[in-house]
Parts: sequence; structure tokens; C-alpha cells
Amino acid sequence: MQNALQITSFQICGMEQCAAVETPDVCVSLYTEGAPEGMCFRLFDHQDILWFSGELPWTPQTVLTALPLKPNSSYRLEAQVTKNGTSVFSQISLNTGFMGSHWQAKWIEPQQENGIRERSIQFFELFMPQKDHYGGHDRLRPVQELKRDFTLPEKPERATLYATAHGVYALWLNGQRVSEQRLAPETTDYPNLLYYQVYDLSHMIREGKNTLRVLLGDGWWIGRIGLSGDSCQYGDRLGFLGQLELTGKDGMVETISTDSSFLSRPSFIRYSDLFMGEKWDLTLPEQPWTPCIEQDFPTENLKVQPIAPIGVWKQLSPAEILTTPKGELVVDFGQCLAGVVKLRVSCPPGRVIMLDHSETLDQEGNFFRNILGRNKDQQDVVVCGQGETTFCPEFTYHGFRYVRIVGASPEEILSVGACVIGTPLQKTGRFACSDSRLNQLQHNILWATRSNMVSVPTDCPQREKQGWTGDIQVFASTGCFNFDLTGFLRAWLAQMRLAQTEDGGIPIVVPSFPAQTAMQIGMSGSNTSSAWSDACVLVPLRLFEETGDREILRENLPMMRCWLGYIQEATKVLPEDYARRDQAGKDRCRFLWTGGYHFGDWLIPSFEDDIPGGTAATARVVAACQYAITVEAYLETLRALDAHAAERKEYEDLLRNIRSAIREEFVHEDGTLDADLQGPYVMVLRSGAVEGALADRVAARLVQRIHENGGGLDTGFVSVPYLLDMLTKYGYREEAWKQLFRRESPSWLYQVEHGATSMWENWNAIRPDGTVTTSSFNHYALGCVGSWMYRQIGGIQCAKAGWKEILFAPATDCGLRWADCSHQTPYGRAACRWEKNDKETRIEITVPEGVNARVSLPGLNMPLSPGTHNFTV
Ligand code: BGC
Repeated sequence: MQNALQITSFQICGMEQCAAVETPDVCVSLYTEGAPEGMCFRLFDHQDILWFSGELPWTPQTVLTALPLKPNSSYRLEAQVTKNGTSVFSQISLNTGFMGSHWQAKWIEPQQENGIRERSIQFFELFMPQKDHYGGHDRLRPVQELKRDFTLPEKPERATLYATAHGVYALWLNGQRVSEQRLAPETTDYPNLLYYQVYDLSHMIREGKNTLRVLLGDGWWIGRIGLSGDSCQYGDRLGFLGQLELTGKDGMVETISTDSSFLSRPSFIRYSDLFMGEKWDLTLPEQPWTPCIEQDFPTENLKVQPIAPIGVWKQLSPAEILTTPKGELVVDFGQCLAGVVKLRVSCPPGRVIMLDHSETLDQEGNFFRNILGRNKDQQDVVVCGQGETTFCPEFTYHGFRYVRIVGASPEEILSVGACVIGTPLQKTGRFACSDSRLNQLQHNILWATRSNMVSVPTDCPQREKQGWTGDIQVFASTGCFNFDLTGFLRAWLAQMRLAQTEDGGIPIVVPSFPAQTAMQIGMSGSNTSSAWSDACVLVPLRLFEETGDREILRENLPMMRCWLGYIQEATKVLPEDYARRDQAGKDRCRFLWTGGYHFGDWLIPSFEDDIPGGTAATARVVAACQYAITVEAYLETLRALDAHAAERKEYEDLLRNIRSAIREEFVHEDGTLDADLQGPYVMVLRSGAVEGALADRVAARLVQRIHENGGGLDTGFVSVPYLLDMLTKYGYREEAWKQLFRRESPSWLYQVEHGATSMWENWNAIRPDGTVTTSSFNHYALGCVGSWMYRQIGGIQCAKAGWKEILFAPATDCGLRWADCSHQTPYGRAACRWEKNDKETRIEITVPEGVNARVSLPGLNMPLSPGTHNFTV
């Protein structure tokens, strides 16, 4: 059976909607079913065709070069794919930004009190409870309200607003909200890159009087951000920039720009902070308007937002409304999430209602703040006004499942819900099997992904909300099985390119802000780490595997190359014992990552109470192995680009030398390591440093260490993504399955059976004795097992970049009764469903058109043509 020709997704730079571009070269992706033979594109300005690509051979990704685009304009791009004389079409709107042209608008600032800078704190203070940190809420500044009235003699044909802020903003035109986007202009390293947004107001603008209204909050610009809760990281004054372009019927363009004719005043939002929370006072008398002040800030850092905007993608009703043993009113949404509460109450004016957010209850079922640290309050407050009050914070978000409501009785609450926010992501994976615990595990992985893809890939939605590079490095593989992350991660990689330091260093957090960078350098002497900074090589390669789009590799190649240069410099740092080494020992130091700071195998379960001890025990060997893994990935990149022959030769030699250096430096003949922990064994195997009998001995020792640990894993954050793959590869399949099905801590199902609804940061976030710890319950890193589940249980394996070749090898003997998995590849849906009974296993495999596939399992090994196949074995 052949799939009908179809375009399932047409994207510009990874976006299906709201695509706006800054250059005439535009990356497009076409996800299809039915293996088209040819394709072409047409660009329209209203009804007029402006450009035609000509017939092109079909490929899922292409860059349309030199499109005749003018700045600040709207177009439609049409894609046509063809096969055997049949065509299907898809259209997408395409806006252009300023494309380097001049902004007429002036930055404006409301008259305001400057934000207050937090004092510096020491590392040991970071995780102290909020109450031990200095400062009351009076140090927070109000959200500012701006407005501009203007009168138009007639309704324009088109009205387009370009806007951005120092802070975060939301817009209303004539009392109507302009966009559902949250937290615009989102998070970037503002001095180098500040996104602006493009809004089509044509349907909202009217003849006569119009009023544009803006709310402006602290956001990442002034607010208390990151692990350290520092404020004023980019500035201490809120600002706004907006240019409204009105095109009349005659084609004439009139512009209304921010200038001193905009008025401002403190709003009813007393304060708003991304981490601390937001307070509305609906009893406040209206403040007088004062003119805004024009400022001469640069506009060179402004670029149109290249990813879909943060928004509310789901609303959740309470799973339960509880009165805790302490008598407190707590709403349980049944799900850990990133978002805010929407509360409607009927209370007398002046009533103060407080909402405290948390991801877990304590052992007794009472409200429990699981997040510690300065400015991590996660508390929203409303002072009720006249009549019913509807409260939904605008410029903050929290990581929570539970909300404690203080100040309103259940009878006064008319409704309460959770608005779940994030960058919109298209789901591309489906996982289901006969074990509901594994299904819950994938569910938890999906929610951890959604909760942390908020403008950039973050570690957690409550404590840090930071773009930790290591977290996405270990998780990208799984993330890309479940969602199309291409456009999102590509934009983040563009930020990483900007963040790279002159010496090639890649920060451990992207985007990083000054206090975070300074804290890291102060603590460790460097702002890089193996396995974190290496994301600059590994994440683009993962995206290439997923899409087959070489452009992703090409645009990141210089960054990768400079990063490798940085590591090579670090290998020149002589280890402390250098003088005592024999000549061979001295020589191999050139191939070991001896310098710089390394987190090592972060968060090793057996070092739960001594995290620095775990780092110290594993940093050297993990860094050395990571070097090999990264060089190997770089070589794959060069091979994929099919160029750079001399460089390839150089890196092939280097990789060989790194691998021998690892072997000689760390691996004893009997296969043991001095760092006799599971993670280092996994990393040595994954690095390719050992082969044949020696590799078998290393693997045997890994398994022995697992047995010595009561059968439990003891891998940290860096090695855990490879654990099950290495066990499978070296002949310990059974052991890998035992780890997946294990229920005792540490294990994946332990979390599930202890009520996790997202992924925990620590295996023991709830200890076996029931103690609830103060860690994050919504970190995706440990969800890295999701990819292995797709590849083994679903058996869907990408055998050539872009899913051009697929291997179907489901582990039908893994102990499950059935599994049903699929993945949306650029060529269409690849799916594998199998079911066992006492006698036989029935398997159904769907191969997308245009793909070479093979099925491989005991008793069944053959090539598969596109279409759906049924087997019984
Ligand atoms: C974050 C991690 C991150 C780590 C770096 C933590 O505080 O939450 O996920 O990768 O720091 O060591």
C-alpha cells in the first residue's frame, strides 16, 4: 500500500507560523508523505507572483537564495510537490524584518525608579531557603503601563507593528490583546542579540481613534534571574521600542513610532519577577500619566525573532482540591508543569490572596517548597478589586504541580486552572507499550521537554530557567524523537555561536548573563566544561541525523572547529604529576583534556551527599573520553560535508591518539579503572578507546560494579545516556532490560512508581524512606533513556542521516506483550507495531516512501520497500 502524496508540514526556518526573516536567503523544510519526485516554490505579494524557483528535485530541506524580499513586508510562500503528474500545494506567510535597514522609532523609557541590584552572594549561600536571604518586596519596581492615542482618517489596508523591549512586554490595541505571545522579547544575550516581534494588526486597526497600550515588566532585563537570583543583569531601567507601519489603499506608508508622545505610568501590577512572582493590586488608584523619555540605544543588536513565540499551549483543570493535614488549601493539577495559575474569585475588595507554587507535597501531605535559593519565592499575589477578580500573572512563570491558596476560601473560588506555557513544539514521536509504567515514563519525558523548551532549552522551570548546555547535550537525542526541535535548537545554536569567546570557549550556559558567567569563573576558573560545552558539536550533529540538512552542520562548523582548538589548547596544560611521568606518560598528555574545569560525571547517585566528590573522582577520565566522543562527532560532521579532506586526516590521527592515550592512561590490562565507578566504564567504552578482549573486560567490570551495587545503576548525568547502549553493545542486553524495568532507586521506574509526572533531577528526589528533598522535579536530563526506548522497544533506528535509511529491530523478547511506536521522519511516518501471544509475534512495519529500510530480528532479516508490511514470527 502506498501513501498518498501529501505535505504534512511546511516550515520556514523551523516555523509553520509567524515566520519572519532578516535575509533574502530562506531555509525551508517540507515534511511529506508519498515520496515526491519534484518540488518548486513561488513567492507572492498579495496576488502577484514575484518569484518562481523553477523545478527542483525533491529534498526535505533547501535554502531558497536571493528571494526578492523588501524590508518590513508581508509575502506568501507556496510550495508545490509533484509525483507522476500529480501535485499538492502548501502555503505559508512570510514576513520580513528590517533586514538591516534603519529603525525610525526611538527607544523610550517610562519615568521610573531604577531597579535595585542584588548584593553578591557566595556559592554556599545559593541554596539557602528564601527566608535567609536579604530583601523584602519593596525592592521590586512596578510594571509600567505605556500608551499612545492616534487618530486615522481612514482604515489602512495593512498595519504592521515591530516591537521589542528592555524587559518583557505585552500589547493591546483598542482594548484587545494583540498577541497571545508571552514574555516577549524572550531571552537572549541582549547586548549582542535582542529579538523583536512582528505583529499584523490589519484586522484590529480602525478609522478614527486608536489606542496602543503596552505593559512592561522586568523579565530577564532587570529581574532576578538564574541560579544566583541576580538582578539588573542587562540594565536597571525598562524601555520599549515600537514602529507601527500603516499602508494606505494608495500604497503610501505612514509610520507611528515610539517617541516622547508615548505616555507612561506605574500599572496595577505592583511588581513582576520571572522567579519571585507577580503581584496585582486592583485597589490601587490610577496614577497620572507622564511623558516617556527618548533614549539613544543602539539597534544593531535587533533581529527578528526566529522561533515560534512562547505561548499558553494547554489549560489544565485541577486534579484535586485538597485541605492538607495542616489545614491549608492546596490545588493539585496532577502534573508538573511550567506556567501560571488562572484564578477567578468572588472576594471583597482589598482581600489579599497569595498563591505559592511547588512541585511536590511533603511526606505528610503538606505543602512543601521544593525549591531553595535566593529569590526563588514562586509566589503570586492579588489584592482583589470590586466584583469578581480574575487573576492570571502576565510576566512570570513557575515550575509547579501544587498551588497553595492563602486568603480565599473554597466557596469564594469560582474557578482555578493552570495555563501551561512554552515554545510551541510539533510532536513527531509516539510511544506506547503494554507496560503502563513505561508509558508514564515517556509521558514524564514529554512533560519535562515541554516545561523546559521555553525560548531556549532550559534545565528546569523553577530554580534556574537557564540554557545549560550539558542538559540538552545529553537529552537532544530523546528530545528529537518526540518533537521537531530543529528550528528551536538551531536558533539556540545561533546564540551559542554569538556566545563563543575569542579563544573558542563555549559557555556552560547559553545565553549566559554577566553574574552567571562571573560566578562560574570565580568558582572554577573557567566558564567551560567537557560534556557541557561539547553541545556545540553534538547538538548540530543530532539535528543533522534527524533532518539530513547539511546546512545545520555548515553554519555551525566554524564554531565546532574553534571549540576543538580550545580543547587542544587545554591539552597543553601539564598535569600536576607531569614531572614524575615516564616519557610515554608525558607524551600522551598532549592527547588528554588536562586543563580547564570539568563537572565530571555530574550527580552520581553514590555521591548524593558529596557532589564535588563525584566531580573530583571522575573529572579527568570523563573529560578524556568526552574529547574522543566530540572529535568523533566532528569527524562525522566533516564526512557529512564531504570536504575538508586534509582536516579529516588530521582529526582521524588525533582521534586515534586520543583513544590510545585514554587506554594507556586510565585502563588497566584487567579492564579495571582507578576511577572504579560505573560512569567512567561507560565513558571509556563509548569513547572507542578499547576494543576486542580489553573492551570485553571493561564491560565485564561495568556489569560487576552494577552487581556490587545491588543491581542498581550508579551513573551520573554525563554517562547515563550511554549506559543502556553500552550494555546492549557489549552483550549484556538482559542487564540493560533489568535497568529499564528496575523499580528500586536509582532507576527510571522508581520515579514513576513514586508518582513522578515529569523527570526528576535526582534519582532520589523522594528518598526510599519517603523523605521529600529540595530538588527539581522537572529536569529532562535523566529522560535521555527515551531515545533508547524508541530504538529498542519500538525498534525504530535511523541508519542514515535524515532517516534516508531505517533499521527496524524491535526487541520483541524484552518482556513486553506489545509495543506501538512511530516517528515522523522528513519522508513521512515510520512505524512499528508488534504483539506477542503464546505462539507467535505479529509485527506491522510502515516504511515511508523514498526510504531504504530493513527489518532485523531473530528469524526475520530482509530489506523492506516503502509501504506497510505484516509479518508473523
Ligand atoms: C543545573 C543542571 C546543570 C548543572 C551544571 C545545575 O544547577 O540544574 O542541570 O547542568 O547545574 O552542573
